[in-house]
Amino acid sequence: MTANSNPNENRQPHRILITGGAGFIGSNFVYHWYTKYPDDRIIVLDALTYAGNRQTLGNLETKENFRFVKGDICDRSLVDTLLKEESIDTVAHFAAESHVDRSILGPAAFVQTNVVGTFTLLEAFRHHWQDNERPENYRFLHVSTDEVYGSLGPDDPAFSETTPYTPNSPYSASKAGSDHLARAYFHTYKVPTIITNCSNNYGPYHFPEKLIPLMCINMLLGKPLPVYGDGQNIRDWLYVRDHCSALDVVIHAGQPGETYNIGGNNEVKNIDLVRMLCQLMDELAPELPVRPCEKLITFVKDRPGHDRRYAIDATKIKTELGWSPSVTVEQGLRQTVEWYLANPDWWKPLLSEEYLAYYQKVYA
Ligand code: NAD
Ligand code: DAU
Repeated sequence: MTANSNPNENRQPHRILITGGAGFIGSNFVYHWYTKYPDDRIIVLDALTYAGNRQTLGNLETKENFRFVKGDICDRSLVDTLLKEESIDTVAHFAAESHVDRSILGPAAFVQTNVVGTFTLLEAFRHHWQDNERPENYRFLHVSTDEVYGSLGPDDPAFSETTPYTPNSPYSASKAGSDHLARAYFHTYKVPTIITNCSNNYGPYHFPEKLIPLMCINMLLGKPLPVYGDGQNIRDWLYVRDHCSALDVVIHAGQPGETYNIGGNNEVKNIDLVRMLCQLMDELAPELPVRPCEKLITFVKDRPGHDRRYAIDATKIKTELGWSPSVTVEQGLRQTVEWYLANPDWWKPLLSEEYLAYYQKVYA
């Protein structure tokens, strides 16, 4: 390739169905895809649960190549209609119940959306692909999590694609079930599924229930910063826009039937991460009810079954597809704090009665 050549020059436009596109990663992915491939047709299918926010996609609603459909991935006839009517060739499947604490409070919705919903999509896509005589360019990307691999000890090697599944929460168990279905559809029917298992994401449009946005928002409101247990649990943090670029590479160059682990090479203890956020907020926020923010850190009762450590070995996607993360955790956290400071109009309406009732249940 010459320095001036365009890798997308010979690329045929895609017609992509993005499920869960009004959620955190899905919406970042929609913006990524729309910006990079403006000639593609994008259909977002999202049920707009508490975690889905149509406002996030507001800028796109008037675009000709974009269509938003409010609907449930468990609705087979709706999915059949969309695949056919829009001649979909690519599915990027993000829709899920995604929060571990909610899965402990109420696991049923997790089995319904994550297992039954993924099954419904796979069945619909299988028929659509077969009816069109199995085109080679069709892809079904199943977006999953590193949590399916269970919990690591301090000296264990990071999760690779061959690490056995040991999910520990209703959330991760339901995601593991959906991964097995996606894998089986390739093995049995040769449906061109690809699975990705990614570590913890953070960045813009992250719902306030998750650690990083919850801490940022509580600092801005002068509320306690609830750290579970001893705060020594470790997560491997990936900036969401890096995740989106990895998924783009997987859709274009990944092999059907394969799994790719995606991670940030950024293992951080929860308490250290919260302290980093406190320092950034002290530095960047013009006004704070309590300063320094570290005064707000409060250790609270641990999450039941709390996984101790996650870490991703992302060698395969690096060596086979040439992807690696571009943002360090220091850069990404700074950008994220700046984003929450600049966008109270996005996050303030999410602190609804339902959210406060949930908060009360988990943290009371
Ligand atoms: P999210 O909770 O922010 O968004 C989920 C979206 O799915 C919401 O817009 C919601 O309205 C929609 N949805 C839920 N149930 C639906 C249904 N039955 N039909 C249609 N739409 C429905 O989730 P997220 O954090 O953006 O995660 C997206 C995907 O990535 C999930 O599959 C998750 O397991 C996976 N993942 C997340 C992370 C992370 O750190 N957030 C890391 C790895 C993998
Ligand atoms: O690893 C990928 C997973 O990351 C995704 O599959 C999930 O969808 C996503 O929610 C996330 O799961 P976690 O449970 O790791 O993320 P969460 O933000 O809920 O918590 C991160 C860590 O912080 C975890 O060790 C629990 C801890 N925590 C979390 C909250 C909300 C706290 O100490 N206090 C809190 O208030």
